Amino acid sequence: MTLDTLFDAAAKPHSKSVDSLTIRRPDDWHIHLRDGAMLRAVLPFTTAQFARGIIMPNLVPPVTTVAMAEAYRSRILAARPEGNDFQPMMTCYLTDHTSADEIEKGYAEGVWLAAKLYPAGATTNSAHGVKDLNAIRAVLERMERIGMAVLIHGEATDPAVDIFDREQVFMEQVLLPFLKDYRGLKVVIEHVTTQETVEIVRAHAPRVAGTITPHHLMINRTSLFQGGLRPHLYCLPVAKREHHRLALRRAVISGDTCFYIGTDTAPHTARNKESSCCSAGVFAGATALQTYAQVFDEENALDKLEAFASLSGARFHGLTPNSGTIELLRRPGALPAAVMVEDDEVVVFRGNEELPWSLGEVRP
Ligand code: DOR
Ligand code: ZN
Repeated sequence: MTLDTLFDAAAKPHSKSVDSLTIRRPDDWHIHLRDGAMLRAVLPFTTAQFARGIIMPNLVPPVTTVAMAEAYRSRILAARPEGNDFQPMMTCYLTDHTSADEIEKGYAEGVWLAAKLYPAGATTNSAHGVKDLNAIRAVLERMERIGMAVLIHGEATDPAVDIFDREQVFMEQVLLPFLKDYRGLKVVIEHVTTQETVEIVRAHAPRVAGTITPHHLMINRTSLFQGGLRPHLYCLPVAKREHHRLALRRAVISGDTCFYIGTDTAPHTARNKESSCCSAGVFAGATALQTYAQVFDEENALDKLEAFASLSGARFHGLTPNSGTIELLRRPGALPAAVMVEDDEVVVFRGNEELPWSLGEVRP
């Protein structure tokens, strides 16, 4: 079957009152797994939902070489639950000193699939990120030539820019000129949070794509202050106004293949979150598919879920969709409120709620 026939044949529920939906196994194109005890604690939640995932390289120190990516990949494979077939797809953390040859070597050897561009200072563990785009011109030109995608955290880093405007300012001042400069480069704008960015992605597709998280489909900026300050909903880019959330919902159900899953699941311990200076990141991975299913259901668009979850990301990256399936059930279910990590815990996004959708059987 060609990819186009797969899109045509994507799982369609029989009626609005459908109680279950079976889709090809999805992939998560944006995951923070961390390392050590945290990796072991959070990985099973991702492997229960996804067949493959793009792993973010913002460890301390960051994953900047082929050898580091290979070693990290081995640690992830070793931490998988017994018998699980999850495949991590690695990324290289770009710095001002990244070498084009190293980038090409890792790509040619199949160690990494893409490179991550953090503007220095934009978010968690981004201090070693790119300070000057001119410093990596040779790297970006090489990626353009070999067809390797760059994954961009799109936020302005000037502290004078209002935090709710940082995505928009980045798009206007950095991304649009960047896209003109590198006309053949494959670009993913990660965790899109604004209506304007949705339009930019669409206008530059198919060589540009955008990922959308479950939490940005569920919360707006007011949710961060609902009844008091909600540290577990704080992430970067921060949630925006309600009309942006609604634009993201329209984007995911549009059927446009330039939008696909990227949960940006980003676990931090409760001690780090419930602190006078709370770390950015939402642990969204454990309830991701349940949340996406609920959103598509609420939008009357369950027939569009499979393309968003399981086909469009693979198509963008030139990979074959997974052959197995996962069943989604309209059956209330709940996850633990938190997951233990050594003497601390990670609070699960929506872990304290009864979710209307649950996961059913996975067939590899
Ligand atoms: O909220 C976030 N958390 N945004 C990021 O870009 C990084 C992530 C993390 O690593 O915790
Ligand atoms: Zn992220």
